[in-house]
Amino acid sequence: MIITNFKTYESASGAKAVELARVHERVAKETGQMILVAVQAIDLASICASVQIPVLAQHIDAVGYGGNTGSICAESVKNAGAWGTLLNHSEKRLNRELLSQSILRAREVGLKIILCAATPEEGASFLEFEPDYIAVEPPDLIGGDVSVTTRPEVVRKAVELIGGLKLLVGAGVKTGEDVRIAKTLGASGVLLASGVTKTKDPKAVLLDLANGLRD
Ligand code: G3P
Repeated sequence: MIITNFKTYESASGAKAVELARVHERVAKETGQMILVAVQAIDLASICASVQIPVLAQHIDAVGYGGNTGSICAESVKNAGAWGTLLNHSEKRLNRELLSQSILRAREVGLKIILCAATPEEGASFLEFEPDYIAVEPPDLIGGDVSVTTRPEVVRKAVELIGGLKLLVGAGVKTGEDVRIAKTLGASGVLLASGVTKTKDPKAVLLDLANGLRD
């Protein structure tokens, strides 16, 4: 599995976000690999209406319908067509209580849950929430050019503590070789952003990344 987090990159916002999601869909179809996009709340509905690949919200708030001005409502995310949501991304950390409430809300409306963790140990501590996936991303490597896979001990530890089936790794992932190493070490996939959102040729990058998932 490959997940591209669009964050709030200009190249992955508004009409450009829809186009970039379509590129992901084309590569998913061409390669047969599971490729997802995690998009801004404001772009969620238009992207869900435009592509058939699974779409994730980058975050939801622990609220439902009602008086919650400015919040991202779980029901609205689900009704927009989202498959699931990231929670606790390094750039949107939640305390444990809020995380627990947000997970509950996501589950109540039927969203898949991908919990982000800064370390294998933190990721393992999230197993009690029974998320669908746990993405381990060393914060100091996020947005940079050094891949998490250059720290194989981190990926190995995460596999040991979390188990490979639920495990995604991320930060600095840019190439098919990074994906291949992550998979060889036992992870199920990768979560990345700038490698795709900042390139001039996202299709070529995505094809390379998808190639790294092949046996
Ligand atoms: O959510 C993915 C992200 O935090 C990693 O970002 O730019 O290092 O691939 P990047």
